[in-house]
Amino acid sequence: MTFRGLRGIIAAETALSEATPAGELRLRGYDIAALAEAASYEAVVKLLWDGDLPSAADLRAFEAALKARRTPPGFLLNLLRDLPPATPPMAALRIAISALPEADGRDLVALAPVLIAAHHRMRRELAPVPPDLTLGHAANFLWMLRDRPPTAQEARALDVAMLLLAEMSLNPSTFALRIAASTEAPLPAAVATALAVLSGPRHGGAGPLVMPVLRAIGTPERAGDYVEQERAAGRKIAGFGHRVFRAPDPRAAVLREVARDLSEVCGDLPWYEVAQALRHEMAARLDLHINVDFYYAPTFCLLGIPDDLHTALFAAARIAGWVAHYHEQRATERIIWPEARYIGPEARSL
Ligand SMILES: CC(C)(COP(=O)(O)OP(=O)(O)OC[C@H]1O[C@@H](n2cnc3c(N)ncnc32)[C@H](O)[C@@H]1OP(=O)(O)O)[C@@H](O)C(=O)NCCC(=O)NCCS
Repeated sequence: MTFRGLRGIIAAETALSEATPAGELRLRGYDIAALAEAASYEAVVKLLWDGDLPSAADLRAFEAALKARRTPPGFLLNLLRDLPPATPPMAALRIAISALPEADGRDLVALAPVLIAAHHRMRRELAPVPPDLTLGHAANFLWMLRDRPPTAQEARALDVAMLLLAEMSLNPSTFALRIAASTEAPLPAAVATALAVLSGPRHGGAGPLVMPVLRAIGTPERAGDYVEQERAAGRKIAGFGHRVFRAPDPRAAVLREVARDLSEVCGDLPWYEVAQALRHEMAARLDLHINVDFYYAPTFCLLGIPDDLHTALFAAARIAGWVAHYHEQRATERIIWPEARYIGPEARSL
């Protein structure tokens, strides 16, 4: 018997989101593209946590609660400042969250982007930018990262990207978080577990690899040769493939338009044409579809977010879903504890 990475094994029940092989994703019953059209990231967090979209008054109160938690404690800034500059942003975020003595979901959602921005500036020997309490959640991240106010279009682009990344059923990091929750580990520890799992290049760690692929291709005419070269080397191409979706990822189509509206060129790279050519060349050879990383990477690039922050920002968005899964798991009484079939040597004497 092969385990095939637990493919097809039902390991939890969830009322939070539903992903289907046909390429559908619904959060609490609402289609993800419809949410991207009509809601904000903060509203989707409330949807996940409370079961329904908030009223205007509830949303305002929630936004205010997040803003009130946006200033990081001094000890966390000191901790991040003392890290070696080469510390990966995902590791810095995990260390900071692990160091929180206690924190609820609002603390973690509010603080994660702030910590990523502050760490990024400090590793470049720049002072952290204080949060701007007049800005929304996504806009404030851009402000703190870049030290200039985002345009309304930039702020909404990141808001939509974060909303799309907020939750996606069971997946490796969410499963890991649910295991931690089932042991009654505290919320920050469970989120730190999920952060560790998300960092791998087969999972959230694929995001930072997408722009280097597009840059390595450079011009649309080179896409075919690039795919051949990677296939010959037996390498997977970041941004393609998904365990659940056997059709294009529904979040990718939304993000393609968001990114394209920002610009079809990032730096010197005609990313849109190169991405189209790469999709075409992959489709001609493999029955594989793009995943969410394929267009969130150019979106982040166009917002001036460096490649190596991509997974951390994905994680900051996903904390919304993780917190909801944490509480859903805590409401069940059982510890998750599967078994292994022993295949080692028979019992023997020393
Ligand atoms: C996401 C991923 C881990 C899913 O893994 P999985 O469910 O185990 O899918 P499989 O590895 O069984 O894929 C089926 C086949 O397609 C191939 N394949 C999958 N993703 C591929 C990719 N991105 N590039 C090239 N080939 C790929 C596999 O090698 C496999 O071929 P085989 O049957 O000849 O061995 C995998 O597609 C991947 O590593 N993608 C690249 C990283 C990425 O973008 N991750 C973000 C996920 S949101």
